Amino acid sequence: MWAIILHGGAKQIEPEEAEANRSGCLRALAAGQAVLERGGSAVEAAEAALRVLEDDPTFNCGYGSVPNRAGEVEMCAALMEGQSFNVGAAGVIQGVRNPVSVARAMLEEETILIAGPGARDFAAEKRLELCDPATLKGAGGQKRDKAKAHDTVGCVALDRNGLLVAATSTGGLEGTPVGRMGDSAMPGCGYYADNGVGAVAFSGDGEHIARKMLAARVMHALGQMEPDAALELAVRHVADIGGEAGGIALTPDGRFGWMHNSREFAVAYASSERPEPRVFLSKAEERVQGGA
Ligand code: GLY
Repeated sequence: MWAIILHGGAKQIEPEEAEANRSGCLRALAAGQAVLERGGSAVEAAEAALRVLEDDPTFNCGYGSVPNRAGEVEMCAALMEGQSFNVGAAGVIQGVRNPVSVARAMLEEETILIAGPGARDFAAEKRLELCDPATLKGAGGQKRDKAKAHDTVGCVALDRNGLLVAATSTGGLEGTPVGRMGDSAMPGCGYYADNGVGAVAFSGDGEHIARKMLAARVMHALGQMEPDAALELAVRHVADIGGEAGGIALTPDGRFGWMHNSREFAVAYASSERPEPRVFLSKAEERVQGGA
């Protein structure tokens, strides 16, 4: 069996942005699903899905990243696989086209997280696509002037070999200090994967998510409850300290869940059991229409 669920960020989606969010999530899902259907790995599927979101200005990652306080784009991305517990993460990286591919290249390294100019040097060494940082300059921030309007994207995937993967990619939060790194690069905070337990990826207020070690909480809860319930508990923890978050999770037997306390949280999913893609802009919408 295989399964994949991805999200476009814990945020507000205005009516005129709804279609772009739905179609962007569906395009990303199709890229990841195609990999899983042909027997490819969950690593490859999650990377393929997030590359689509990174290339789409609708989402706060890659090309659509929001600017920091200095008007520059600094991005974070991570990939973790639940068999070897390998983690690949890039933090505060500038001038690369697809941060998730830098994270994937980092999976092969002993070092789990590389940040700043060293991360871009690493991408160059691996011959990944570089770009002029100015071409990423706040494409996401031009759409709104409201801080926290856009957030991290993520994906969790299970392949036919039972490998679970979690992946994140983000332009961070708008207007944060230069060099700031959020939860999306930190294992146990914004993401985690363990083949025996599940995989999880979060979006939202990075400092709050990190302070509550949200991914770790979900991993502990997954053994005892359904993914939706584990995520609901985690989101409540963030809300308790004034934060906003959305999360997706997947279990080794392909049960997935998602929850958010942001107004919207676009999610798309499919599995070998139900391969027709589903997309929703909020949990409330899924409850009305009926989910998987
Ligand atoms: N959740 C993304 C960030 O805070 O950077």
